[in-house]
Amino acid sequence: MGPGDVPGSSKAPLELLTRSPAETEALGERLGRLLAGGEVIALTGPLGAGKTAFVRGLARGLGCPPGEVASPTYVLERVYPGRLLLRHLDAYRLSGAEEFEASDLGAGLGGPGSAAAVEWADRVAGALPAGRLVMDFAVLDGTARSIRLSAGSEPGRRLLEALAGR
Ligand SMILES: Nc1ncnc2c1ncn2[C@@H]1O[C@H](COP(=O)(O)OP(=O)(O)O)[C@@H](O)[C@H]1O
Ligand SMILES: [Mg+2]
Repeated sequence: MGPGDVPGSSKAPLELLTRSPAETEALGERLGRLLAGGEVIALTGPLGAGKTAFVRGLARGLGCPPGEVASPTYVLERVYPGRLLLRHLDAYRLSGAEEFEASDLGAGLGGPGSAAAVEWADRVAGALPAGRLVMDFAVLDGTARSIRLSAGSEPGRRLLEALAGR
């Protein structure tokens, strides 16, 4: 990247590789430390890809008290108070963006003081803020996972640059 280039503006999405659940959690923890509030993180990828493992790390990075972090599949949302309020949502049981909008799940999403991580975000993408971070998880061989990250806003792109250590 040369001087004057806007980080990430014309780049392919960032792609990271993790080789264990612990590495995925550690990535979440690092992002958690970087969050300033207002972020919406859209997590996509199949069952068992590591979305919840990542959120477990986010909670740690935000200083949320240690405790169970599991997919909120049936309750749709859990909140973990930390340096910011971590909202952990799961859209798996929702029929789509309309149902999401008809619920109160979207209220305050992207607002200050909280950060939201949404599992199965592709199901409700139309109801999520355009500036969200997108993390697309894919299962490679064994315990390897690829995670493609992109951002729909300049603060989000800066966050990804920081996460990538650039
Ligand atoms: N690199 C990895 N990152 C995250 N999870 C992994 C990895 N390798 C193996 N796993 C396993 O895959 C599963 C991921 O589960 P989970 O985080 O609940 O996925 P999801 O929320 O995407 O359904 C766990 O059983 C975990 O131990
Ligand atoms: Mg999950």
